[in-house]
Amino acid sequence: MKRLKIKEVLAGGEVGQQVLVKGWVRTKRGSKNVNFIALNDGSTINNLQVVADVEKFGEALLRDINTSAALGITGELVESMGSGQSVELVASEITIYGKSDPEKYPIQPKKHSLEFLRENAHLRFRTATFSAVFRIRHAMAFAIHKYFNDKGFYYLHTPIVTASDAEGAGQMFRVSTLPAIDPPLNEAGEVDYTQDFFGRATNLTVSGQLEGELGATALGEVYTFGPTFRAENSNTTRHLAEFWMIEPEMAFYELKDNMDLAEEFLKYLIKYALENCMDDLKFLSNRLEQEEKNKPQDQRSMELIEKLQFVLENDFVRCTYTEAIEILRNSKPYKKGKFQFPVEWGIDLQSEHERYLVEKHFNKPVILIDYPKDIKAFYMKQNDDGKTVAAMDVLFPQIGEIIGGSERESNYDKLVKRMEEMDVPTDEMWWYLDTRRYGTVPHAGFGLGFERFILFVTGMGNIRDVIAFPRTPKNAEF
Ligand code: 4AD
Ligand code: MG
Repeated sequence: MKRLKIKEVLAGGEVGQQVLVKGWVRTKRGSKNVNFIALNDGSTINNLQVVADVEKFGEALLRDINTSAALGITGELVESMGSGQSVELVASEITIYGKSDPEKYPIQPKKHSLEFLRENAHLRFRTATFSAVFRIRHAMAFAIHKYFNDKGFYYLHTPIVTASDAEGAGQMFRVSTLPAIDPPLNEAGEVDYTQDFFGRATNLTVSGQLEGELGATALGEVYTFGPTFRAENSNTTRHLAEFWMIEPEMAFYELKDNMDLAEEFLKYLIKYALENCMDDLKFLSNRLEQEEKNKPQDQRSMELIEKLQFVLENDFVRCTYTEAIEILRNSKPYKKGKFQFPVEWGIDLQSEHERYLVEKHFNKPVILIDYPKDIKAFYMKQNDDGKTVAAMDVLFPQIGEIIGGSERESNYDKLVKRMEEMDVPTDEMWWYLDTRRYGTVPHAGFGLGFERFILFVTGMGNIRDVIAFPRTPKNAEF
């Protein structure tokens, strides 16, 4: 008999049908005559209720059926007595693939804290919460490729090992095969990377953008979607040392086109989630509601599905950095000295400032543009005022910055001057500068932090809970 996924059985199974399902036990309840097994195979948040007759299977076999045991079950579908589900399965044959000792299995069928589950990340997929998160993460990855493919963008695989620092922020992980003790030194007494594997100093990429620009200035519109690495010592609920980023890069786009694309893209993904992940979203919405029960009313977040619909239905606010500083300086928390960090033109906005703008002032997603050039990367297009660059950050409620991007400086002389001012090595970046020497065009792009976006869609509160195996300072378990 062909195995059916539980999702198919629950959606289309008919009373009287013989089926074979395979999966893991979520819970088992017993009475004298029958056992009820909730079986889940990862295809859906919903379990299939299996009814096993004690006399038929014998107590010895049923004793081995505990939470997380792996089973194959054949039987007949009958109308479900319980609420919610259309059918349940009356077992005629049970195969135990793998037992799970209930004395030792770490994840009991009860509520565990997210911290505890993080320490057991190898098994947390077996909980309803994490299976929902990772199904949604998959659906969003698929929707990203679909969106760009349907728009005529090409998926470009940019390198993971590079010799450049795309953001110029010096937050790179070194890649080296030189011995850690007594590495070869050059005449200046520094580590001699000419003797290293690549014959030069290399690192894990912080962004695929620079190579993306090479692709865009020939293929027109490209995007990357891959892991990026940052050795920033930020122990927050929004930072990972290894995270996934989606970076579209488009020739002949100016800043406004870039903003329009970012807004359309985010809304497309949210709409896709609402249309394809409703069971999981409903589950996560409930989870969030339970979790926030003890918070005062005004600190609870908007109901998850309502929040997603709200973002879909409203235009993002577009506002310059200079206007944002004005708003902040005129705000109540500023006047009452409630902000921890100072607010004046030229500062890098802190998360408290971003959240005030998004959650209190505008109450909508915000695209902030035209930042001071000194707090942004060397490659951004310089505005005519001589002070700002054509940058854009998209800020989301609860998350803060979800996208960072810009129009790029396409003028060779201006770019070189800025690189020199910011100590970016122009000689090593000859290949990047070639795009401005030969057929330069206005172009723009942005980077969406995949995990920050998944936080928003799932309503989870900690970025460590939306990537399978988080890498953060002092932590690389699994
Ligand atoms: O703003 P960032 O640093 O921009 C870039 O890397 C550009 N090269 C993108 C581009 O224009 N092609 O990073 C982009 C996004 C941020 O908005 C944030 O969502 C996410 O990447 N991000 C992180 N996510 C998790 N952990 C970290 N440590 C992150 N750093 C950035
Ligand atoms: Mg940024």
